[in-house]
Formats: sequence, C-alpha cells, structure tokens
Amino acid sequence: MRVCRQIVLTRETHSDLVAHYEDLDYAMMMPWIDGLTWFDVLQQRDRVTLDQSRALAESMAWVLYGLEYNHLAHCDLSSGNVIVAPDMVQINLIDVEDLYTPWLEPPPYVSTGSMGYQHGESMRSGQWSPTGDRFAGAVLVAEMLGWAHPEVRKRAWGESYFAPDELQKDSDRYTVLVEAIRLYDPGFAEAFEQAWRSRSLESCPPLKTWYDLLDQLPRDPVASWAPIDPALFAPERPEHKRFPGAARRDRGDTPPLTATNPNTMAASAGANPRTGALQRNTRGCRRLAVISGLIFTIACCFLSILAVQVAVINTLSAR
Ligand SMILES: Nc1ncnc2c1ncn2[C@@H]1O[C@H](COP(=O)(O)OP(=O)(O)OP(=O)(O)O)[C@@H](O)[C@H]1O
Ligand SMILES: [Mg+2]
Repeated sequence: MRVCRQIVLTRETHSDLVAHYEDLDYAMMMPWIDGLTWFDVLQQRDRVTLDQSRALAESMAWVLYGLEYNHLAHCDLSSGNVIVAPDMVQINLIDVEDLYTPWLEPPPYVSTGSMGYQHGESMRSGQWSPTGDRFAGAVLVAEMLGWAHPEVRKRAWGESYFAPDELQKDSDRYTVLVEAIRLYDPGFAEAFEQAWRSRSLESCPPLKTWYDLLDQLPRDPVASWAPIDPALFAPERPEHKRFPGAARRDRGDTPPLTATNPNTMAASAGANPRTGALQRNTRGCRRLAVISGLIFTIACCFLSILAVQVAVINTLSAR
C-alpha cells in the first residue's frame, strides 16, 4: 500500500511547478512501484515456480487481510491494479482511489468492480463496502496460487484467468483452477467454492481465511510436501529456440546434412539444444575449405585444357 503516500499538487501548494506546467494542477504524485502488473504476467503467460506462486498468493492475502483488519477495502481489485515486484514474491496494490473506509461518506459513484473479478452483487449495487474485496480477492489469490500449474496457464482466458461472462458459473476453467489450488490444501478449494457459489459479498469467506490457510502451509519448498508430480513443474525448455535436429541428435542418430535447411545444419554442426548457440567446430569448417579448394582447382584445370584445345582448333582451321 506504499502507493497511498500521495501528494496533490495545486497552485496553492506548488505555485512554481504549476505555473511552469499548468497541467499539473490537481495532479497526484505517488511512489513509483517497480515491477510488472499481474495483468502482464497473465497476458504473457509468464511462468512462475510453485514457491513463487505460494509467495505471491501469500503477499496478496496478507495485504488484503491487513486492509480488512483495519476496516478498509481496496474495492477495485483486478490484475491491472496489482504490481508484482521483480523478485516475484511481493505484490503492491495501486489505483487506490476507490478505497473504502467507514470514516468517509460514500462517494457519489461507487466502483462496481473490474471485468474478470466482479461478483454478481457488485454489478447490481457496487462494492464500496468493508466486504468489497472478498470476491475479487478470492479470485486473485486463487489465480496466483494456481499460476505455477502448466494446465492453469494454458487454460487462462487473457488479462484475467476467467472470462468475464463465466464468473460464478461451472466451467472446465473453474474445475482446473480449483483442482490446482486443492493440491496445496483442500481448504483452498473449499474457500474458493464458497466465494464462487455465494449470493452476496458478505457470504464470501473473509480475507483472513485466505491468509490463515497460506500461513499454515509448511515453510519448506512446495515440491517437498505437496502431492504433485515434480516432472510437471520441471523447467521448460524454450521450444522456439530448439533446433529440429537437436532431438534426433539427443537420441544418437545422425541427421542428414542438407544445405537448404540451416536449422539442420546448425544441429549437425553442434548447436546447443537449449540456447541454439553454435558450438565451436573448426574441424568441419577446415574440411569444407579443403574440399571447396580441390573443386576450384579441378574446375580451373578443366577450363585451361578447354581453352588450349579451342586455341589449337582455331589455329589449324586458319591454316
Ligand atoms: N504508482 C505506480 N507505480 C507504477 N506504475 C503505476 C503506478 N500507478 C499506476 N501505474 C501503471 O499505470 C496503469 C494504470 O494505472 P491505474 O490503474 O491507477 O489507472 P486507471 O486509469 O484507474 O486504470 P484502470 O481503470 O484500467 O484500472 C497501471 O496498470 C500500472 O501499469
Ligand atoms: Mg487501474
């Protein structure tokens, strides 16, 4: 919530600055938060590890529980309003202008939530209330917790995991996410189910539930205690950088060298299957140079003989 440290620039408070740049009148200055938005991570299908998934969800739940504990709510939670720090462990909320607090009069226009994170009730009567984060918070925590799972990333709709029109409905996407978060603890699936089937924000689990569930998980790496198949979470080889010949070479076959397929040539010449970088293979180059030289010499001899023959024939026919 560092972003709440905001200063409003006006003619009265910052006369020199506003005299110089008129547009800055009533501008807000706030700390710059480094990192990608959760929106970017979802849209780019960025991979996170199981431990990063758990840490991000825990950071999210901690911030939301902190707000709830203080009778506050962000009220416009969405992937675009969450910034993930470059360490992929901590999150910061931004866009805090709709913040709910019991010490303020309700604003004339209240937030109805953002697409992909909207409870049915929010659409009808807004979510400027102490329970305003319960549904969107549940979706964000579940997205973060599930994101390490390849199937979850594959199924994601776009800038949010769920398509806006399938919220609170049964779908394959829903089942995949619920099963992914169940692997950490069945309590996550139950809490998410409760939020998903709830008729009101009030009947979604309090944000403390999410924080408690995450806090109770063993501190050891997730792969050491969760019932998962580690092979599913092994670092992926970047397919687009892999040369087609590399797979055959891994199996011990010798791929044919064809001059028309530079990828195959690279593989035969010893391209690194992970990075695609060519290994130094000077012996092959030298052999190629010797063969080319021989062909060139033979061609020159042949042409010289031909030229002499033509010259002799010309001389004889002139006589
Ligand atoms: N303090 C900040 N530090 C770094 N980036 C920020 C900050 N505030 C905003 N941004 C960037 O600007 C984008 C838009 O900001 P913000 O969400 O406050 O505006 P908005 O007009 O309310 O957008 P929307 O209606 O889509 O939520 C954010 O998604 C983020 O990428
Ligand atoms: Mg925003």
